[in-house]
Amino acid sequence: MAAPTLLDTPDVEGIDFAFEDLPDLHATLARLRSRRPFAVVSFAGARAVLLLTNGLVSAAFRDEPTFPAAAVYRMTTGPVLGKTLQCMDGTEHRNARGLAAPPFRRNRVAEYVQPILEPLAHELIDRFQGHGRADLVAEFATKYPVLVISRLLGLPVRDEATVHRWAHDLFYFPLAPEAAMRASREFTEYVTPILAERRREPGDDLISKLVTESAEGEHLDDEQVLSFLRLLFPAGADTTMLALGNTLSALLTHPDQLALLESDLNEHADWAIWEALRWEPPVGLLPRVCPEAVEWNGLSIPALTPMIFSINAALRDPAVYEQPDEFDISRRQTTMLAFGQGPHSCAGNWLAIAELTTALKVLLQRLPGLYLHADARADAKVVSQVGTALRGPNALRVGWRG
Ligand code: HEM
Repeated sequence: MAAPTLLDTPDVEGIDFAFEDLPDLHATLARLRSRRPFAVVSFAGARAVLLLTNGLVSAAFRDEPTFPAAAVYRMTTGPVLGKTLQCMDGTEHRNARGLAAPPFRRNRVAEYVQPILEPLAHELIDRFQGHGRADLVAEFATKYPVLVISRLLGLPVRDEATVHRWAHDLFYFPLAPEAAMRASREFTEYVTPILAERRREPGDDLISKLVTESAEGEHLDDEQVLSFLRLLFPAGADTTMLALGNTLSALLTHPDQLALLESDLNEHADWAIWEALRWEPPVGLLPRVCPEAVEWNGLSIPALTPMIFSINAALRDPAVYEQPDEFDISRRQTTMLAFGQGPHSCAGNWLAIAELTTALKVLLQRLPGLYLHADARADAKVVSQVGTALRGPNALRVGWRG
């Protein structure tokens, strides 16, 4: 008889954490965490270890040798996006990231606010402001982050609808893999000649920066640039789309917090974004794997155990946050964990913060007295999108009084 293992007894029966939307996800995670700092659950049909506390999730992200990101990404996104940063490790990852990340540094993203982010936010609002009502998910949140990337890359405005379709198809990869593979292929064919052009005649766009950026004589080759560009859509646009939806959902369903924010946008906008990222992080659960059997933080983890880092449980851990279930923009705590940690943490977090803050300010300036329609609450609730890992609202049907 095989020796008993950690995975023998699941803590929750009848729920697959990869696929199902749990309407009371936060309550389930809190209940599990009150019993012990991890739980054994089903994930995509296999038994997995779900890490639930801020301490364990943070330690696991930082422990790249035990839970290497590449082991998962090579299987999941690798076939569609190619060998992205997420599929690399060690020196190769450090070097490629060192070359790709500089345009996203905190001190660089300010240059994008006035020329790209603000005009784009206004342009999208111009399209619906006259109607007196809008669905801010369909008409703003799904468009803005894709178009930010498209404009950062300096792609022609006339191609934006096609770029948007590719981004959409890449996002729905787990549900429609063939469409995603086609999108990846078409995007690559489209952007390859642009790369060559920008190498010959660099401009001040992101593609030019990526093809010319060098460190100690090294620079990214074409395939590294291409895989980075493909990654930008799922990693950079979809996450930001969901974060924007979650922020607006939180504010619209907490009118006291919205009123506080509107009382002084410059004072509160950044904090509202950080608190929304804590309260409902768009990447709620992040799957990894533990390739080798290991003793880790008191757990005997068998080889090949799927590990789920519950960012959303960690960010509501009562050991770190007082009244963790309350959405309170005066909390004033930054929450980097929403962007992961360790060597594979988000390379675009400062761009994301700049995008979100700019969008929130422009939306509230242009649409004063923003409110959710009375029959729109169910759609505005944050739910699972394309599997449980990613979370956002389906629709935000709003009006405004101004
Ligand atoms: C609110 C918006 C965002 C959230 C919540 C978010 C979240 C994350 C998380 C959790 C990871 C770590 C994944 C892992 O460890 O497996 C990650 C990685 C990454 N993100 Fe973001 N992200 C956001 C926006 C962006 C933006 C705007 C960009 C770039 C334009 C971006 C680019 C990346 C890249 C390139 C990686 C891979 C880094 C590596 O493997 O070295 N992200 N992001």
